[in-house]
This record gives sequence, structure tokens and C-alpha cells, in this order.
Amino acid sequence: MPTILITGGAGFIGANFVRYTAENRPEYTIRVLDALTYAGDRSNLTGVPGRVDLVHGDICDADLVNALVAESDTIVHFAAESHVDNSLDDPEPFLRTNVTGTFRLLEAVRRHDRRLHHISTDEVFGDLPLDSDARFTEQTRYDPSSPYSATKAASDLLVRAWVRSYGVRATLSNCANNYGPYQHVEKFIPRQVTNLLTGERPKLYGEGINVREWTHVDDHNAAVHLILDGGRIGETYLIGSGDERSNRQVLDLVLTLMDRPAGEYDHVGDRPGHDLRYANDSTKLRTELGWRPRYADLADGLAPTIDWYRTNGWWWTGPKEAAEARYRRQLAGR
Ligand code: NAD
Ligand code: TYD
Repeated sequence: MPTILITGGAGFIGANFVRYTAENRPEYTIRVLDALTYAGDRSNLTGVPGRVDLVHGDICDADLVNALVAESDTIVHFAAESHVDNSLDDPEPFLRTNVTGTFRLLEAVRRHDRRLHHISTDEVFGDLPLDSDARFTEQTRYDPSSPYSATKAASDLLVRAWVRSYGVRATLSNCANNYGPYQHVEKFIPRQVTNLLTGERPKLYGEGINVREWTHVDDHNAAVHLILDGGRIGETYLIGSGDERSNRQVLDLVLTLMDRPAGEYDHVGDRPGHDLRYANDSTKLRTELGWRPRYADLADGLAPTIDWYRTNGWWWTGPKEAAEARYRRQLAGR
């Protein structure tokens, strides 16, 4: 049985990838490497069918990464510091995990000649104007805005360089904003849903005009498996549902789905350097690999996501208090 090593497999997208793989691809033996930072939790893997071997360790630990890669056939690299607001507050962990961590993994993959898929974000391209139909493509120039996106851009460029210079067998994907179960409550959609569930008002940065393309985490992970199976080595694939909405529109949809009156939210201070709009052209993934999002409409995926938060308060109550304390500190420090 091939062994798949999933870095960051106790975080939001990684844990959903573990679950998706266990349910749909039983031929894989699954191993997770995760540092269990504030964003990772063992309980995210509870109830996954079959055996998942969770190694609690750091992607920057060269010896550990080397040993785990040697025992694996395929590596999918999700591990990262992932939240823009935290990167504005303290960029250093982003440099360490996103850049040095990816470097360590690449060196191990090179040494043992293993297949790697690198997970990235459309934020590496910077932003698009609000009033245009333009979309990012695989050819768009890198132009990141935040410490988070700059370190993700650096990690992508390292992967590309290792492919070209050392013949490493790697593919890359850059996905639009994800949503779904197990997403940390610091992120936009879970923060607002859990605010409403705890009697707090949702918090909209600025006027809420910024646009994101919302992609369900299972659609992201289905795309990753298609790329592992049929993607061309050295190639990048953009992933996005096509459902673009302003933050205000998303919040209005959340309020409607939770039977709350429209406009029941606070405008709070805007994020510094706030990217205006992200939108991916995922034609390459669709035509070459036949990917289609199951949740092409955000409303279809959002309703079950809200239900998940409603019934899993035990999972988010502690992290929510910590995340809101972080937000208060960040706001005071600006
Ligand atoms: P997350 O913050 O929920 O999870 C990150 C995981 O990585 C956590 O389990 C954490 O413990 C682990 N981790 C952090 N530092 C580590 C280290 N030094 N060593 C080992 N493990 C470490 O993030 P996410 O939202 O699941 O994102 C996963 C990946 O997908 C990231 O690479 C991110 O850039 C990318 N991505 C995210 C989105 C999104 O909307 N969330 C969209 C596109 C791409
Ligand atoms: P986020 O989930 O942090 O993802 P990203 O910044 O990587 O796109 O934020 C999504 C959008 O929501 C972004 O435009 C910032 C905005 N936002 C709010 O308006 N209020 C909030 O409380 C948060 C966390 C984000």
C-alpha cells in the first residue's frame, strides 16, 4: 500500500483531506506530520475511518522530515501559518514554517526522490480590481501583499526551483478561499457564524466590499487528488469554485441562513493593505483533469457548514475565546 504523508493534516484543510482520503482512497496508508500549533488539533482526526498515524513534530526539523519522507511514497504539503491578520501582527513564524519548513521538505524529497504536491493560495498573485472581470491564471505574475502571502509565494518559488534545478517530482496548486467544517474560528466565515451563535455581532472589515471566491474544502481536496493522479510534474493548477461574493454579501447570506435580520453586524477598522479581490481562472484544472466543484453555489455548502458549527460548540468554544483575545490585542497594537 502506498504511504501518503500529509503535513499540516491536523489543521482545517489538511484534516478534511485526511478524512476525504480515508473515505475515498482506501489504498493509501495515511501518516500526518503536524506541530499541533494553535491551529491544529488531534480531535480534528477523530472518527476518520481506518488508521491514521499522527506524528507530532515540526516541519522545520530536518532529521524528522528526512526520516518521514524516506518512509513515504507521496507527500502533500499543507502545513503553514495561514492567517493574514496574524502575519501582520507577527510575521516571524510565517517565515519559519512557510519558507524554512518548505525548504526542509524539498531537501528530503530531493534526497529520496519522492512525489510532492505543494498546497498554496491565490493570494500569491496580489489582488485584482473590484470592477473588472479579470481573473488570475497560472501565468499571472506573483505580487503578494501581506507577510502571509509573501511567504507562501516564496514557498511556491522554492518548489518551482527544486523542480527545475534538481528534477524534483512536484506539482503545485493555488486555491481560492476555502470554507467548511473544522475551519478555525479566526477566519471570516466561522468567526461570524460563531459570533451569531454566542450572541455577538458579526465584524465586517471596512465597508465589506472586498471580494473572495469561496470554494468548499471538499472540492479543493478532490482537485488535489486529481492532480496527484493525473497532474503534470512541474505544473501549477489554479482551483476556484467560480462563486465570487463581497464580504457583505457573504455576511448577508449567513444572516439569512441563520434567520437573522439583514444588516445585523458591526463595521470595524479595516485590515492594513487589505487585498480587494481574488478570483481564479480554473480552466486548466477543469479541461485537463475534469474537475467540477460539487458546491458551485456558496449557499449549498454554507448551510451544512453553519449546521456543523451549531452542533459542534465543544470544538470551537475554547479556540474562539483565544482568537477573540488575539483580535483585541491586534486591534490595540495597530
Ligand atoms: P490551518 O492554519 O487551519 O492549518 C495549518 C496546520 O499546519 C495546523 O494543523 C498546524 O498545526 C500545522 N502547522 C503549522 N506550523 C507547522 C510546523 N512548523 N510544522 C508542522 N505543522 C505545522 O491552515 P489551512 O487553512 O488548513 O491551510 C492549509 C494550507 O492551505 C496552507 O498551506 C494554506 O496556505 C493553504 N490554503 C488555505 C486556504 C484557506 O482558505 N484556508 C486557501 C488556499 C490555500
Ligand atoms: P479571511 O478569512 O481572513 O481570509 P483571507 O484574508 O485570506 O481572504 O478573510 C476573508 C475576508 O473577510 C477578507 O476580505 C477579510 C474579511 N474579514 C472581515 O471582514 N471580518 C473578519 O472578522 C475577518 C476575520 C475577515
